[in-house]
Amino acid sequence: MAVTRTFSIIKPDATRRNLTGAITKMLEEAGLRVVASKRIQMTKEQAEGFYAVHAERPFFGDLVSFMISGPVVVQVLEGEDAVKANRDVMGATNPADAAEGTIRKTFAESIEANSAHGSDSDENAAIEIAYFFKPEEIVG
Ligand code: CMP
Repeated sequence: MAVTRTFSIIKPDATRRNLTGAITKMLEEAGLRVVASKRIQMTKEQAEGFYAVHAERPFFGDLVSFMISGPVVVQVLEGEDAVKANRDVMGATNPADAAEGTIRKTFAESIEANSAHGSDSDENAAIEIAYFFKPEEIVG
């Protein structure tokens, strides 16, 4: 299997509870390597652009408000089949459906405040990485 990259966000509910290290440890233990990382305060425009695919969904406004409610940590993760490895360790979007031992089962507060985001395909990973990182900021 190929070594690939994915994009991750540690969301405001998790940074607020000082869980950046705990979540990153779970990502690393799942075989992923942090090859870029920065803590940022997203602007409303940035969050709207990032989640543009959800613009017509009823939860879009609340999602954008939540994502700018505090700092987030955006990361590029590298590993064997990184998109799947990250999604497996994150667990289901809704923590009520997430498996034991996953990040969302362990830490998420709700479907909105679900502690972590991960790309859903290699194609979207490339788009999401480029949205937040310049190539020279990624050091594998
Ligand atoms: P994420 O992987 O960041 O992608 C979109 C986010 O929308 C998702 O995680 C959830 O946190 C959030 N969200 C809020 N409400 C819903 C919902 N009803 N269905 C799916 N996602 C939701």
